[in-house]
Amino acid sequence: MPYYERDGITIFHADAREMLPGIEDDSVDLVLTDPPYGHGQNNHGDLAHKWEAALGLVSRGIAAEGDARPIANDDRETANALVRWLFAESRRILKPGCCCCCCGGGGGPDPQFARWSMWMDEALGFKQAVVWDKGGLGLGWHYRRNYELVLVGQKPGAPCKWYGGSATANVVRMHGIKPGADDHPTPKPVALMAWFIRLHSAIGDLVLDPFAGGGSTLAAAKLMRRKAVGIEIDERWCEMAARRVDREQACMDFACVGPMEQQELSWRGG
Ligand SMILES: C[S@@+](CC[C@H](N)C(=O)[O-])C[C@H]1O[C@@H](n2cnc3c(N)ncnc32)[C@H](O)[C@@H]1O
Repeated sequence: MPYYERDGITIFHADAREMLPGIEDDSVDLVLTDPPYGHGQNNHGDLAHKWEAALGLVSRGIAAEGDARPIANDDRETANALVRWLFAESRRILKPGCCCCCCGGGGGPDPQFARWSMWMDEALGFKQAVVWDKGGLGLGWHYRRNYELVLVGQKPGAPCKWYGGSATANVVRMHGIKPGADDHPTPKPVALMAWFIRLHSAIGDLVLDPFAGGGSTLAAAKLMRRKAVGIEIDERWCEMAARRVDREQACMDFACVGPMEQQELSWRGG
């Protein structure tokens, strides 16, 4: 029974490990997802919350007091198992030639991106690691985090489903989102998800996000007139995703960041 269903967007409040086996073989046009990274940071209170508290931003009234928002299954072992399993399931449910785009963190000290890339290659066939350059300076100390990787694998059996022509680079520059006190702790920009949706699917195609969080993939899919199924284990984020898709927050986020052409121009220094 879906938690939300309207205009081709369906959200299930469920564990992806229970839902995905019910999805038919060769039925999905794009798996686009942002799984728990397994950094464990969010298991004992979310990272943004801790960071704000550590800097004294909350006590000085600069950041709002919010609840800790731990991410389910964010311990290293479970997250790694989830991702490895997802790649195997993607091989089964994707149509031949279709892609799985999986956010995968960036840099060290744990070379998770390398491990995940190998697993993706074993299950699907590794195609590309796209760098999401977030601009500015991220968290950390030595080598502060400035980018994340999005790993792209392609199911064999047909030419790659690709709508990006021959002038799409493997680096995309878009600002990250600093979550507010009540937001999902690790939101992805809708424009980033829209970028991958545009490259790997056509209008009316089916996009699947098994770790939907606050619904950035689903909002992007709605904006771009794709069908989408999102699965989220935490009801709090199902509710956020449903509200977001409903009021087309996507359009606002997208307009803030600017059209893709603008993004591409700024990256080229235009
Ligand atoms: C990194 S977050 C996704 C954030 C999302 N991209 C956004 O922009 O809001 C990963 C999400 O996966 C969910 N999750 C963890 N284990 C899950 C599972 N087994 N099935 C479904 N969702 C799960 C978590 O609750 C979390 O919201």
